[in-house]
Amino acid sequence: MKITIPDILKKKAEGKKITMLTAYDFPFAQIVDEAGIDIILIGDSLSMVVQGNDTTIPVTMDEMVYHARLVSKAVKNAMVIGDMPFMSYQISIEDAVYNAGRFLKEGGAHAVKLEGGVSMADTIRAITKAEIPVMAHIGLTPQSVHKFGGYKVQGKDPKAAKRLLADAKAVEEAGAFAILLEAIPAPLAQRITKAVKIPTIGIGAGKYCDGNVLVLYDMLGLFNRFVPKFVKRYANLREETLKAVKQYKEDVEKGRFPAEEHSFK
Ligand code: KIV
Repeated sequence: MKITIPDILKKKAEGKKITMLTAYDFPFAQIVDEAGIDIILIGDSLSMVVQGNDTTIPVTMDEMVYHARLVSKAVKNAMVIGDMPFMSYQISIEDAVYNAGRFLKEGGAHAVKLEGGVSMADTIRAITKAEIPVMAHIGLTPQSVHKFGGYKVQGKDPKAAKRLLADAKAVEEAGAFAILLEAIPAPLAQRITKAVKIPTIGIGAGKYCDGNVLVLYDMLGLFNRFVPKFVKRYANLREETLKAVKQYKEDVEKGRFPAEEHSFK
């Protein structure tokens, strides 16, 4: 069954948790969709986990749209969200609406996500006015890594917490259908979740959010440069893949593969 925005809103109203994961290509998107995950995000984390960059900053709009197309082709049920990359929405509202539209027209996505609270309210308003649903992302917004001086937990002191609460209210008022809360203390995420009517999706924001998201390659153990505290590893695919490739190498070198059953007569 196709997951729509009303389904996501209904889940919050009924107290049912919303599940979300990233995906960047056809095979993984197919698996995540088959598992019944509600929302699949083509995250700009692909800059780090797929392209090997140090931050999310280098990935381009064209690259994001390309990956969105791969994911959309695979997905039958989940809601697909395109993550707006750095500088695709900050320069002007016209740019933001145009680039958000590209995710739907060219990438096959159903909605977009962008980073920012109060400062992005007008942009969110304009994109939603163009009938494109927006998920806002506040807290640790990775595109601001240089401003923050690293990937640090946000909203720890009362002033910062108050600002995040204001961000959440501003994006709700601007028309966002959901808010992603990244790396903030669990009690603050709980306060925000209670203060807004739209669903909150946490990543490193504790258990009181309306849903949770993880970067797929983190939870599958495919990204090994660092493991954030909030990641739970559900598999170690890097180790498994390394084992398989080493085994293949040895089989070819020792003449064990290809065997009779892999050969044509
Ligand atoms: O780009 C991404 O993967 C994200 C995560 C916070 C889910 O935005």
